Amino acid sequence: MSEVRIGFVGAGGNARGHMGRLSEIEGVEIVAICDVVEESARQAAEEFGARVYTGHREMLDQVEMDALYVSIPPFAHTDAEVLAAQAGLHLFVEKPVVLSMDKGFEVLEAIEAAGVLSCVGYQVRLMDTSRRVRAYLSDRQVAMISSHRWGGLPGQPWWRVMEQSGGQLHEQTTHQLDLMRFCTGDEVVEVYARYDRLTMDDVEGITIPDSQAALLTFARGTIATIVTSPMMTRGGGKSDINFLLRDQIIGWSPREITVSGVEAPELEGEPEETQNIDQAFVSAIRAGDQSLIPCSYEDGLRTCDVTLAANESARTGEAVRPRMA
Ligand SMILES: NC(=O)c1ccc[n+]([C@@H]2O[C@H](COP(=O)([O-])OP(=O)(O)OC[C@H]3O[C@@H](n4cnc5c(N)ncnc54)[C@H](O)[C@@H]3O)[C@@H](O)[C@H]2O)c1
Repeated sequence: MSEVRIGFVGAGGNARGHMGRLSEIEGVEIVAICDVVEESARQAAEEFGARVYTGHREMLDQVEMDALYVSIPPFAHTDAEVLAAQAGLHLFVEKPVVLSMDKGFEVLEAIEAAGVLSCVGYQVRLMDTSRRVRAYLSDRQVAMISSHRWGGLPGQPWWRVMEQSGGQLHEQTTHQLDLMRFCTGDEVVEVYARYDRLTMDDVEGITIPDSQAALLTFARGTIATIVTSPMMTRGGGKSDINFLLRDQIIGWSPREITVSGVEAPELEGEPEETQNIDQAFVSAIRAGDQSLIPCSYEDGLRTCDVTLAANESARTGEAVRPRMA
């Protein structure tokens, strides 16, 4: 197995999950970890035997590596991705990849110019249930999609600040939106959204809405709704995606596909075990093969484009066409 040396920008909760999975892959070495909070970088580095940095430029200048993970809050993306791509490093960037499309286009250009591999953390695409629904829908007209995610409020202070996270639809419910794109193989061409904050003004520092609804139109005509809220702060919560076809409703969840109406034998049965996204990324690096990665930067940026268009629509009151549509 060829050795793969990996650096990290961001050493928070999500990065630690990637580090743990990577450390179990033979021949993978986590060589350097950068976090603006030195203690976070140090704690992780001690566990994985990596060098500690508080600035990514210094780390990229000093440490030889093959790939870089960027797992930081949406507002914090500056030039790490561009510098890494220019240095020939393969890139794993966590969703949502940016808070501004101009920044996303800059990164995409650098990735394409350098010809490096890229991966965005939409690991839900790797699930067997997602792949089976995608295969089933590939030659069928989906009329409507309805999805909701009603959950709790993550503890990180940046998450509740609109200018830092972009709000729940952009930050978290991006997974549901991405799955609509992935399963239908279709692109959103228009978004109309309404947001409000109706129950959560008591939460210190909150500037995100607690009620978000978006109406989406896809290129092949599918009409979709996505509604989301973090107001279930005492537990509970529900999340689902339903695809409506003529005489049939396909319900997606991570471990189960449900079918109402006309039967679909292809969708029955226990889902198969799925590979984790870190393993997919490492395999792609070893093989030099982008097709082993479930979501490229360009593809992940398209999902981001839709939720940023929703934010613009909610702000302006107008329907918005995503910039990449
Ligand atoms: N794919 C998934 O399912 C999934 C799950 C959870 C989180 N995420 C994503 O991962 C990212 C990080 O989320 P998290 O939960 O780990 O947040 P977190 O707040 O726990 O960690 C973020 C870390 O980034 C550090 N940081 C901020 N700016 C930085 C900079 N410029 N350079 C270096 N470090 C910096 C912070 O100090 C913090 O340690 C977010 O984009 C989030 O959406 C993805």
